[in-house]
Amino acid sequence: MDEIRITGGVPLYGTVQVQGSKNAALPMMAASLLHRGVSVLRGCPRIADVFCMEEILQALGAVTWWNGHDLYLDCTEADGTEISGSYTGRMRSSVILLGVLLGRNGHGRLGYPGGCVIGRRPIDLHLYALRELGADLLEGPFFISAECGNLHGGTIVFPGKSVGAAEQAILAAVLAHGETVIENCACEPEILWLCRFLRCMGADIRGEGTERVIIRGVEILEGGDFQVPPDRIVAGTYLCACAATRGKIVLENAPEGELEAFLEVYRKIGGQYKVKSGKLIADGSGVRFPVPYLETAVYPGFPTDLQSPLMTVLATIPGKSHIREMIFEDRFKIAEELNRMGAAVAVCGRDAWIDGGRHLLGAEVCARELRGGAALMLAALAASGETAVRGYSYVCRGYEHICEDLAALGGRLKKDTGNYFYGKNTDQ
Ligand code: EPZ
Repeated sequence: MDEIRITGGVPLYGTVQVQGSKNAALPMMAASLLHRGVSVLRGCPRIADVFCMEEILQALGAVTWWNGHDLYLDCTEADGTEISGSYTGRMRSSVILLGVLLGRNGHGRLGYPGGCVIGRRPIDLHLYALRELGADLLEGPFFISAECGNLHGGTIVFPGKSVGAAEQAILAAVLAHGETVIENCACEPEILWLCRFLRCMGADIRGEGTERVIIRGVEILEGGDFQVPPDRIVAGTYLCACAATRGKIVLENAPEGELEAFLEVYRKIGGQYKVKSGKLIADGSGVRFPVPYLETAVYPGFPTDLQSPLMTVLATIPGKSHIREMIFEDRFKIAEELNRMGAAVAVCGRDAWIDGGRHLLGAEVCARELRGGAALMLAALAASGETAVRGYSYVCRGYEHICEDLAALGGRLKKDTGNYFYGKNTDQ
């Protein structure tokens, strides 16, 4: 059975490293296809979504290999132009490869990205961007087909912010003929990192990290050799684990500069932290203040990916908290699971009201997506007794060693196979 059993009730103490960023690594892997040679992503997380993207690139003809956490991508022969729905259905972010296939080959076909439990997740903004750069798109029953002689520069004015659509536009524009201006571009750090990676390959990009990005197409891109940045969402998840258990932890390499909105809330609930010689030292022992109202927002606002982990923390804090989820229309799936553990979370549309401070008890709960699954693991650590978290494989999509890390911090976890997880930092 795909489950983790966690015995909670103890504060977390200790030190862990933060893995490489899933959401930075995936678009960088896509970008490697824009060079007919080898690129290297150092410190790349070994997680299910990265392995899925690796399989897709291999299916297109790339040769890939690992040396520890360094991922080598040789795209010399990667001239495939079709990505089946078996991949795009598994991992929605593969849709950004359509622009890459156009940039490399002038045409491409992609199975439709699957829906997911957090929302409909349409791709209209992706297709709008590609059309503005000269692509002819045919939306068939099973595939989206794209053709273009050569992509040309254009002006893309996004009506709403989309991380993936911005990555799509940037990946398609770097080899297009002429200049592309992207207005109302999403400003998430992962987009800034993608632009830095592309620039190290020879792309001409200005304004990354702002709402206006200007790209001058170049003839050719060289191979990139780049360090994947630490994962801000994993760091935030571990800080929520510290808060939920009232513990004290040290994150060796947390990107605190990318977590400002989250850390502001962390302080508001009574959490404390300081940054000292590159380490983020957090103290969750004073966590006790509810959050009367919080909205998730595009960067630099409170990240939607930390909404579920925060909900778990708020369930442990006496008083009434209120979260409004502004990015995805259905991202409160864990509420009913938390309620099975004794929490009191009421959901209506985009609003969740948490009547916190009730004693959480171990139960059998079910994860149905990545961040909700991680949040249920945190709830299990805060609860008394044993909790079985089913659907652990969702968590493995984005967290490389969450069990080992939580065990290193004193958490008591075991896989359904019966073997226990031991902390990386503890002797066994
Ligand atoms: C990225 O998804 C991340 N995934 C998500 O992280 C993250 O939650 C999201 O950005 C928001 O920050 C990756 O980077 C792989 P969007 P993405 O396009 O690009 C609507 C995780 O847990 N929209 O910014 O799919 C969409 O429905 C994942 O790591 C359109 O309407 O998110 C949503 O309401 C979950 N049309 C909003 O925009 C489009 O064409 C934001 O979505 C595209 C998006």
